[in-house]
Amino acid sequence: MPLKKNSNRLFEDVYDYIVNRINRGEWRAHEKLPSVRELAKELNVHRLTVFKAYQRLKEEEKVYAKDKSGYYIHPGNLEGFEHIQFPIFTSRVQRSYLSEIHQIPVTYQFSQALIDPNLLPNHYFADYIKKVFDLYPKVLGTYSTVQGDGELREALAHYFRKRHQLYVNANELIITSGAQQAINLISQAFVKPRDTVLMERPTYSAAIDIFRHQGATIIPVDILPYGYDLEQVEKNMKQYKPRLFYLNPTFHNPTGYTVPTEQRKRLAELAEQYQCLLVEDDPFHDIYFGHEPPAPLFRYDTGGYVIYIRSYSKYIAPGLRIALVACRQPLMKILLTAKSLSDNGTPLLNQKMFLHYFLSERMQQHLEKLRIALNIRKEIMEEVIVSTGWEWTSPKGGLNLWVKLPEEISAQTLLSNSVERSISFVPGNICDPLNELDSWIRLSYSFVNERQLIEGMKDLVDVYNSVYLIGKVSLT
Ligand SMILES: Cc1ncc(COP(=O)(O)O)c(C=O)c1O
Repeated sequence: MPLKKNSNRLFEDVYDYIVNRINRGEWRAHEKLPSVRELAKELNVHRLTVFKAYQRLKEEEKVYAKDKSGYYIHPGNLEGFEHIQFPIFTSRVQRSYLSEIHQIPVTYQFSQALIDPNLLPNHYFADYIKKVFDLYPKVLGTYSTVQGDGELREALAHYFRKRHQLYVNANELIITSGAQQAINLISQAFVKPRDTVLMERPTYSAAIDIFRHQGATIIPVDILPYGYDLEQVEKNMKQYKPRLFYLNPTFHNPTGYTVPTEQRKRLAELAEQYQCLLVEDDPFHDIYFGHEPPAPLFRYDTGGYVIYIRSYSKYIAPGLRIALVACRQPLMKILLTAKSLSDNGTPLLNQKMFLHYFLSERMQQHLEKLRIALNIRKEIMEEVIVSTGWEWTSPKGGLNLWVKLPEEISAQTLLSNSVERSISFVPGNICDPLNELDSWIRLSYSFVNERQLIEGMKDLVDVYNSVYLIGKVSLT
């Protein structure tokens, strides 16, 4: 967390930071907190500031102190985290805020950045099941290799050379069970507790949870419609020496922004200069509504500092869980060990099914139709909210609108009210490594059908109007 040195709220910032981590359930009852010295170093503040924050937490009985030993989590202050105190849990319990929201049973799911299953090539896959068993009768009788099916990796390497001029060979690709697994493997393989990681602000919420669970100190990098402030990125690289920068530069989740080519080139140089890995997560590359986006940043990597993740689970078949990771040696060797410890390889049947679909003419036709259908849904969503006073930058690809509500509206309050009307969306704070951005929301237009999109969005505006009016009354 970068704390502003000149801020006279420094003490409050440190205090809030610790409270946030307690509320996120990062420590169990009676677990020891970082020492004053460690936390001061991590946050780059004076030890007295941390000491004062711990003192206040002690007065509020959020923590208790043991003589000469340090500060510990008070058991009475883990509201909502009772499970953490169950004795068989010997390590920190992981949370996924996004998945908690997805689990809320509602009719109008604007929280799921998934594609409506009716828009996916389900029937074609039914054909491929028979074909795959005819071609590979023992497909269920064997493991895949850890790295992934050789035939699929050859086909993907060829495709990437042709389509994006990404010069990779099959040995530089690994097949994973979705991008989510890839992020998790990268985090386990390359990040140690207390390492620094740069992440966009906002970013993909589950990635925050993954790196945080690994014990990383997260430094946010604002992403804007034109990309990043690269001077700031360089300063962060110089000052914090991060292990990696996790980024989603193409139709970014949640904002939809795309980082321009010049910045991609410069980032590849900075990565090499400061020896900071760039983890480029690129699940929406093919979902564009006009021009194709710039080539992946991986193309400009000459030093072997970029790890490129390309998921196909979103727009081909989420059920197959197929993504690929491209990187050079020696990173590949390290990732392979992590993958083998995780699951010994992605199921072979899924890879073969994917391969035959991927090589077919049908895939390109499917993508063309899908782009049109998603663009229509995006426009429908925008039409319903155009008169609300909400602000957003219309995305040129991807699955989400990133919407700014008036400052006095809390997305969390709006969400609780919306769930009562069977509507869900993602509140901005869970996409923010600093857990702020509370007047922002992410609305996905990709998952519900057009009729539900209109109904649900009108209801959401209705809920908003009632919350807004109540808010106004209580403010006056
Ligand atoms: C930026 C980003 N990365 C990774 C994922 C996870 O992808 P997968 O379904 O391939 O695990 C998502 C899913 O929403 C995402 O938006």
